[in-house]
Formats: sequence, C-alpha cells, structure tokens
Amino acid sequence: KQDDDQLIIDAGQKQFGATTCSSCGMVYSLDNPEDNFQHNQFHQRFLESIKYVGWKKERVVAEFWDGKIILVMPGDPKYAIKKADDVRHVADSELGFQQQTLSRPTQAKTYLFINSERMVVGCLVAEPIRRAYRVLEQPEHHKDMTKDDFMERHRAWCCSTVPEQALCGISRIWVFSLARRQGIATRMLDTVRSTFVYGSHLTKQEIAFSDPTPDGKQFATKFSNT
Ligand code: ACO
Ligand code: ZN
Repeated sequence: KQDDDQLIIDAGQKQFGATTCSSCGMVYSLDNPEDNFQHNQFHQRFLESIKYVGWKKERVVAEFWDGKIILVMPGDPKYAIKKADDVRHVADSELGFQQQTLSRPTQAKTYLFINSERMVVGCLVAEPIRRAYRVLEQPEHHKDMTKDDFMERHRAWCCSTVPEQALCGISRIWVFSLARRQGIATRMLDTVRSTFVYGSHLTKQEIAFSDPTPDGKQFATKFSNT
C-alpha cells in the first residue's frame, strides 16, 4: 500500500501515472491497460530492432570508450542491410515519416552507433547531393497559438530559395531517447565528415540536413556554429 502511494507521488510530478520504461524509453501510463498493452507490443519489437549481435565483417569507422560506429553501404551482406533498415524504421516511426523507403537507396550510407551493451543507439543516413537550401531562422511565435498550430509551425521550416553548394545530405539522424545529449549525434556527424567522401574531409558547410524536426534543428544549429 505504501509503495503504491509513493509511486503516485513520484510519477505525478510530470503527468499523473506516467512512467518511462528504463529499457525502451517509452513513456506510458502504468494504470492504463491500453497503454500497458501498447508498451508490451512496442518494447519487445524495439529491443529486437536495435539489438546488435556483431558481424564477422563489419566496417568500423570510429571507436570510442563507450561504443563504436559502423558503416553499412549498398551492396553489403543481407544481414547488414536488414539491420540498417530495421533501425531506420524505428527512427522513421518515431519521426512520423510516412515514406519508409530511401530516395536513392543505391547511394545511401548508413552509420550506426553501437554502444557497449551491443545496442544500436544511433542511426544516421547520408546521401550524396549537389545543392541544398539553407534553413532560415524562424520568426517569433505568436502568443495565442494552440498546440496543433505550434506543431505545424515547427514542421514547416522556412527555407532559403537560393540553392547552395553541398555534397552530403543528412536525410535521417536519430539517437535512442535514453542515450541523448551524450554527443552521439555529434560523433556520428564528425565521422560522416571524415569518411563520406573517400580521401577528403567535408566542411560543415558541405553538409545539409533535410527537413529537420525541432530536435534536429536545435542540434543542427549547434553543430553548424561550433
Ligand atoms: N534541444 C536543444 N539542444 C539540443 C538538442 C535538443 N533537443 N539536441 C541536441 N542539442 C544541441 C546541444 O547543444 C548539444 O550539446 P549539449 O548536450 O552539450 O548541450 C548538441 O546539440 C550536441 O548534441 P548531441 O548529444 O550530439 O545530440 P544527440 O546525440 O542527443 O542527438 C538528435 C540529437 C539526433 C536530434 C536526437 O535528439 C534525436 O534523435 N531526436 C529525435 C529524432 C529527430 O528529431 N532527429 C532529427 C530529425 S531531422 C533529420 O533527420 C534530417
Ligand atoms: Zn519498455
């Protein structure tokens, strides 16, 4: 009885009954059967998708104390392509992307960050491009916006009409919710810069983000300015 009360006090601070699963990161309500069901459905599938068993032939492009980055390229063995696809689908469904195929699958390079628990906690898809349209700063928000308007505005970023030279387009960047703000996205991008074009190091200006989300824009802004 006392435990129940404590749980309610802890969880109630954010949203009544809401809890975050410490394995899959899903936020759900413990006392809602529908939520529990959805969590059960999601939990297994998610952990299976990001599980990395290790491959005999893996292309390690960077190593760190807390993990490594492997590169998956078109033409790689089926199991590698499948893992890259599985993780990309996880990212896409979180981003709300409808389209589950890549625009140019034969040219896309997928970078996967594997942590020390053998989980794929980061995924970045990079594609060669010729030009890009820079994302422009957003004007101030109106005070009387509803939540839906707010979401809409965050999706419709203003883009410059003047194309600029770019070489590498980031079509997806995703980090597992429980592994964010540990520099994983930054390290994946730095690795793209040094490995995307063989024998050359890309400048930050040569990299463009396609259609960034609010998180993506915050990150891209920081990345471009440092
Ligand atoms: N809010 C404010 N600043 C942020 C945020 C944020 N949500 N995320 C990153 N930053 C800034 C910070 O300055 C951060 O440095 P700090 O932690 O020292 O303050 C800096 O960027 C570097 O952040 P990283 O730790 O390298 O980024 P992370 O590994 O957390 O990944 C990412 C960032 C990929 C955007 C992650 O939040 C994510 O997966 N979000 C959900 C999916 C998403 O929206 N992806 C972008 C889609 S757009 C596209 O794919 C082209
Ligand atoms: Zn879970």
